[in-house]
Amino acid sequence: MLDNNLQFDSFHFDSLTIEALDTFNYLEKDQYLQSEFPFRERAFSTAIVSGNQLTWSGPTSFYQDKNLNQYAGGIDRFFQPLCDAFRNEVVSLILSQRNERFFSLNSYEIGVHQLRILCEDDQMGYPVPEGPHQDGFDFVAIHCMNIFNTSGGVTSLFSHLPDGELVFQECLNAGQGVIVDDREIFHYTSPISSIDGTFGCRDMCVITYKRIL
Ligand SMILES: [Fe+2]
Repeated sequence: MLDNNLQFDSFHFDSLTIEALDTFNYLEKDQYLQSEFPFRERAFSTAIVSGNQLTWSGPTSFYQDKNLNQYAGGIDRFFQPLCDAFRNEVVSLILSQRNERFFSLNSYEIGVHQLRILCEDDQMGYPVPEGPHQDGFDFVAIHCMNIFNTSGGVTSLFSHLPDGELVFQECLNAGQGVIVDDREIFHYTSPISSIDGTFGCRDMCVITYKRIL
């Protein structure tokens, strides 16, 4: 449960600066896609959040059990670390979320995923190729940083089962996010396609929270 006794909550946040948004243009391709079209680019870092401090950890891999992610689980996945310009801005986002809204009392190990989902021509982009899922953490926060020339990308939340009761369904716009209790809620976002046939993208930040104290 979140501090407000909800299993999920939606929220708005201040837009990143142009400098931080521009870092999405320099992400590396995700090497672990099962697709000819490279529809996802990403960076990843972990940190410890305790009190009002956030301490970034050294480079690490991202691992999910195959039970949680049939698409890309069961292997260590390596991604470039977040760059400083992006890190500096997500710190304030994370601390304000934790302290003001959701789960103030504990310390967490967090994983910060900076993701760009791309589409173009007749190529779709798949934000969640594994389908409705849990990620194996306490909380997952999904932030839409920017959208350009896309349709689709509808985020759905389901209670307790991948095909459970639909409790939220919305196309998140820039500055909009949802946070879910990952033990209770399955999350999913539908594919995106280009509105006019040229390049389109959806820039996201997904933060996982695992309680350590
Ligand atoms: Fe997820």
